[in-house]
Amino acid sequence: MDAAALQRIFQEQFPEAGQSITVAAPGRVNLIGEHTDYNDGFVLPMAVDAKIMLTASARHDRQVRVYSVDFDAKDTFALDNIQPTQRHRWTNYMRGMCLMIQEATKVPLQGMDIVMQGNVPQGAGLSSSAALEVGTAVVVNELNKLQLDPVLMATLAQKAENEFVGVQCGIMDQFISMLGEEGHALFLDCRTLEYQKVPAPFHEAGAAIAVIDTAVKRGLVDSKYNERRQQCEDAVKALQQWQPDLTSLRDVGCELRPQVDQLPDVLARRARHVVDENQRVIDSVQALRSGDLAAFGQYMNASHDSLRDDYEVSCRELDLLVDLVRANPQAYGSRMTGAGFGGCTVSLIPSTEVADLEERVLPEYQRQTGLQPRLFVFNAAAGARKLC
Ligand code: GLA
Repeated sequence: MDAAALQRIFQEQFPEAGQSITVAAPGRVNLIGEHTDYNDGFVLPMAVDAKIMLTASARHDRQVRVYSVDFDAKDTFALDNIQPTQRHRWTNYMRGMCLMIQEATKVPLQGMDIVMQGNVPQGAGLSSSAALEVGTAVVVNELNKLQLDPVLMATLAQKAENEFVGVQCGIMDQFISMLGEEGHALFLDCRTLEYQKVPAPFHEAGAAIAVIDTAVKRGLVDSKYNERRQQCEDAVKALQQWQPDLTSLRDVGCELRPQVDQLPDVLARRARHVVDENQRVIDSVQALRSGDLAAFGQYMNASHDSLRDDYEVSCRELDLLVDLVRANPQAYGSRMTGAGFGGCTVSLIPSTEVADLEERVLPEYQRQTGLQPRLFVFNAAAGARKLC
């Protein structure tokens, strides 16, 4: 659906509404740097050319009315008393976002009429929720002329997810959905929120970023995710016996690296993943900058192996897909992406090998699992923005 089609639906749903704006916010795929963001570490995600669009106009009261084209459902909430809902859970991301902006700016926001539609696959680990949060932030920012800084909007979106929706995610998804740049991945320092654009001219180099959805719904993801966060904190506490001022795994340098292996087994493996993954991100950025796709693919492979063996957030289906892709000797690399326990893999392959995914990998995966995988070939897209 394009912006004009969404605007027509907006007029049907809200015929009495005034002048409207249309905003788009992308999903994302993380190329490398997994489970590092909440450890103050490094990530290298890119925004993708799948997005959520919102058409909206301001109201003269404090009501927000939202219509989802995809769910064919309407919900209403009041800006004076923003509470989570069980009935239309998809509006919790929007409710939370309005609440966080209102609290941070102390500006009593204007009510809104909103129509939304998206093609970011839901529940597949491609950050459709982050896209909805930052898309809402841009709508609120524009309609209320707040002139908020994009980095602030990303952090408020994360706050909405943490405190209102109740998911303890890091900053990566909201940040890349907000600040992504066309044709680039972002190398983000999750401690300082400093970032650099890294050219991602995969298409021009005859390569493709192929994302395959395992079709495994990520059932345990919240509890296991929080458990991993806790284990990282426990590892930091244990390492303080050698370095009392250590505050996060990000700061485990060469001198402390040998002590990581002396921690109790589970903590040692969790910490090892995070410490080595941060280094892999730094090395991958270097590889990408020098156009060395083979080296980049090797880091992707090493990342997956570490997530599977040390961090233990992969699953049988993710491992199977990764192995099937890697069985093609021309594939550069393949790994799980996002939180894990289902969701998607990301692979870097020559463009000519997309056919191999369609003809060999997907059918074989389906034969072995009985699940219907989905393939997406993504380009690096721009972050959330007003279209018109
Ligand atoms: C989810 C979270 C992110 C990040 C990844 C793992 O996508 O939302 O903040 O922690 O998992 O890298």
